[in-house]
Amino acid sequence: MSDVIKLPSYKKQSESVCCRFKELHKRPIKLKLEGLSKTFHTSKGNINVLNSIDLAIHRREFISVIGPSGCGKSTLIRILAVLSRFSEAYPSQLSGGMKQRVAIARALANQPDVLFMDESFGALDPHTRSQMQSYLLQIWRNVDVTIVFVTHDLDEAIYLSDRILVLKANPGEIQEFIEIPVPRPRTSKQFLCPEFLAVKKHLEELVHPKISEEDEPSELPMVRMTSGHDVVE
Ligand SMILES: Nc1ncnc2c1ncn2[C@@H]1O[C@H](COP(=O)(O)OP(=O)(O)OP(=O)(O)O)[C@@H](O)[C@H]1O
Ligand SMILES: [Mg+2]
Repeated sequence: MSDVIKLPSYKKQSESVCCRFKELHKRPIKLKLEGLSKTFHTSKGNINVLNSIDLAIHRREFISVIGPSGCGKSTLIRILAVLSRFSEAYPSQLSGGMKQRVAIARALANQPDVLFMDESFGALDPHTRSQMQSYLLQIWRNVDVTIVFVTHDLDEAIYLSDRILVLKANPGEIQEFIEIPVPRPRTSKQFLCPEFLAVKKHLEELVHPKISEEDEPSELPMVRMTSGHDVVE
């Protein structure tokens, strides 16, 4: 993608985006962690999952958390949900747009200050997922709620968020906290705008680094090979 379009720096913000972040940082802090570490004590030994996490999330921010599987995203938001008093955990992996809408209405009926969503749209087909993303933004614009959203989908994270917290694994540490330079209100047309593509390229480099040739498997594992005459193409 970068070969075709000269992308700007993913840190470069337009004046309106810069002003928005200045205003956002003036809002009270809703969630704060200082030097959080988490170790699970298991029969196989201790697993140090999270290390030295410092975090401050402002009122009505939309934060996404991304990172490789097992880096501690769910552990982090479980801890945040227990540290914050007026919060609601939105169910994960519901299928169907209607069930999702009912779940959002239920979660917001308790008037939480913070809504935690852990891969909540992961079971949806792409069309319903994109409808739910727009619906969630519409709700967030109109309701006084801070949202912490875990996802593996980079487009989803950029489209929804003010900031993206990128975790790295073993142990889970903050790799970067990125302010999204894409202006609001967001629309699906922005998926191809230079700011969006610049952030996506940077996130891809962080979360899906290129595998070196030495790490790539050179041969297929020997599992019941077909005989010579059984040709499928
Ligand atoms: N209750 C527990 N006891 C022991 N180990 C745990 C426990 N909960 C999580 N872990 C371990 O902590 C690590 C982080 O788990 P976590 O579920 O937070 O990762 P994640 O980033 O949410 O992964 P995924 O993207 O697959 O959902 C994993 O190695 C997991 O096996
Ligand atoms: Mg998880």
